[in-house]
Amino acid sequence: MGNDASKEQLAALATRMRKANYLEWWSATYRSEKPETNVQAYLWAYQEMKDYMVEAGKLISIEDAGRRGLILANPGLGGDPWMTDTLFGDVQILSPGEEAPAHRHTTSACRFFLEGEGCYTNVEGEKCTMGPGDLTINPAWAWHDHGHEGKGNVTYLNMLDVPLVAGLGWWRGWAACSTTPTTSRWATRARRSRA
Ligand SMILES: [Fe+2]
Repeated sequence: MGNDASKEQLAALATRMRKANYLEWWSATYRSEKPETNVQAYLWAYQEMKDYMVEAGKLISIEDAGRRGLILANPGLGGDPWMTDTLFGDVQILSPGEEAPAHRHTTSACRFFLEGEGCYTNVEGEKCTMGPGDLTINPAWAWHDHGHEGKGNVTYLNMLDVPLVAGLGWWRGWAACSTTPTTSRWATRARRSRA
């Protein structure tokens, strides 16, 4: 590109521009020619997940834990609580009589039921009682709550687009008993990891 004199002038121009918070379009140093991700292919084995959940259940109550579950942390994402760049995933175990209070959030969710019977999700007042292999979809901002009316433990996989929505600065959550939106440590973490 150009002669030596123009290269020096361009470099000097770029230096001045960067001080004023511009980046020079002609530089290749910050451009990418291909999609880049640190996400790695990974298998979380069900029996291993279940064993960890059962062991945790003996050590901490659901009241103290909030949710008795495991967050699936992709090994390529440096300890961030994300399953992929755009998805948060966790597996949870519920015992008979346990429930999660109604709430809603700007993230969409889907829930795959893995094992057990009698667990339900209410989505906007519609009760979905689920069994192994069933799937519920929870649209963004739809009120929902969960409970377990059966016998024995049930397990399920949640997946939510938290990193995507939080990265756009649009994560909001609302509990049924609250008049103000909740903040989320996930949202804070997503912003930080994209900074
Ligand atoms: Fe939820």
